[in-house]
Amino acid sequence: MSTANDTVSMPGAWWSPQSHSGSLGLVFARTVSATLLIVFTTYFWTVIPYVPYKWPLALDLLKRQYEILFSERTFEGLTPYFNIAGTACIHLFGATGYFTTDPDNIEAILSTKFEDYTLGNGHPWKKSRELIRRQFVRVYQQSPQDFTQHVDELLSRISEETVDGVVDLKPLMFEYTLNTTTMLLFGEPHSSMNREERDAVRDNFDYAAFGCGIRVRLADAAFLYNPSKYMDEYGEEAAAEKYAFIVDLWKEMQDSNLVREQLLHVLVAGRDSTAALLSWTFFHLVRNPDVLAKLQKEISSVPTDAKITREEIKKLTYLRCCLNESNPTLIPHTPYEPPLHQKSYSPAYGWRSRQKSPVLLPKGAGIAFSLYHLHRSEEIYGPDSRKFRPERWESGELIKKARPGAGYVDFNGGPRLCLRKDFALMEASYAVIRVLQAYPKIHLTPGVKNEPVGAERQTYTIGLSPTEGVLVSLT
Ligand code: HEM
Repeated sequence: MSTANDTVSMPGAWWSPQSHSGSLGLVFARTVSATLLIVFTTYFWTVIPYVPYKWPLALDLLKRQYEILFSERTFEGLTPYFNIAGTACIHLFGATGYFTTDPDNIEAILSTKFEDYTLGNGHPWKKSRELIRRQFVRVYQQSPQDFTQHVDELLSRISEETVDGVVDLKPLMFEYTLNTTTMLLFGEPHSSMNREERDAVRDNFDYAAFGCGIRVRLADAAFLYNPSKYMDEYGEEAAAEKYAFIVDLWKEMQDSNLVREQLLHVLVAGRDSTAALLSWTFFHLVRNPDVLAKLQKEISSVPTDAKITREEIKKLTYLRCCLNESNPTLIPHTPYEPPLHQKSYSPAYGWRSRQKSPVLLPKGAGIAFSLYHLHRSEEIYGPDSRKFRPERWESGELIKKARPGAGYVDFNGGPRLCLRKDFALMEASYAVIRVLQAYPKIHLTPGVKNEPVGAERQTYTIGLSPTEGVLVSLT
């Protein structure tokens, strides 16, 4: 198997002086090899455009990046970088980082060349995924009725929180998905705790999500932000005696820290993603009355007594289009993948520049891809890619063109595909149906802004959610 050194040292074998006799041969060989090297380097390196900078060591870019990363328009702020080309690079402090929205590159990272990237190679991740996957095997396909209790509670929370006919749906969606995920993990919902415990869990969760968001932004400099305030007082061993999911993890791991990590992993994966999807769905629905009316018409075909079946939900194709449109096309919930590092020094790891020539990435190069920008690509999604238009999914052609896991990455792809995609879609669909059935007059609260997509403020923690919440009028 070739290694980084093999790859780099190969040319040396034929251009070394020992391979040639006489000085003329030597000069000739060196000239040819120098020319080839220049052609090779020019071909592979200059095709990757870079972000222009003005100050020495590109300090102006560093300044700008930190301004953007901690603003409420992080992703829109990064758009000029991603608009430079499908694949571009940035020079900072003499180091080069690469970023891409090219579907072929994303597919290489997520699936076809997965093992060549640090995440693909990470043994702890593989073990953790396998453990969680085995736990989920016992939870078969979710029926909508598994969510009935939680949606009933969501509806009563909506009615409790409504003042003068107006309510912010965003925090309630986060409560709903915290309940469904804790039910899955611990056999009882978060809402079954007493008020004090409930608030403590929710606040600590939000605090941890905020902390993760900061650390993701800091990337290699994450060590600069390492807060020590984490919850310890709930005692995992005690919980492990009581609940099946935890007992199984405990049996495998025999380490309370590892068990806690796995639980947190699933809690984070399960709560924020689906809550963000639901928040954005309602955010856009009330801003697009025609879409809302069309969806309500479709939903009028299903029973209103909570006894909706899985098959009935699956027939609601326009609902699925709306979820597709809210999830990856407009605001993907995991919009900016953290940097990954190649394990080898080679031009052959799946990457291409916009011109489709192979890209030479040095070992350890920081690379990133942005689903936020991928899902706004006009090339794939059309000139109106930034509009909320669920119809684009209706014919089924778009999904074929975009290719899941390459140009369309809703639940990730390859070996890191979401472990609960079906659960999440059922959970979200059922909630949308029941809320629309309960509140047929739902609309955008008068006076609330209806800006073009992307102009809204976005809160970036683990995923993205609308900063201003999802204010709706119900009557
Ligand atoms: C709209 C809702 C959801 C979306 C869009 C979504 C998307 C994703 C994505 C993109 C990943 C890959 C993360 C990575 O590799 O860095 C992922 C992983 C995962 N998801 Fe989901 N997810 C959703 C809901 C859920 C729910 C409800 C659960 C469980 C209750 C869940 C469980 C998981 C788990 C356990 C992983 C980790 C897999 C691994 O470690 O490889 N997800 N999901």
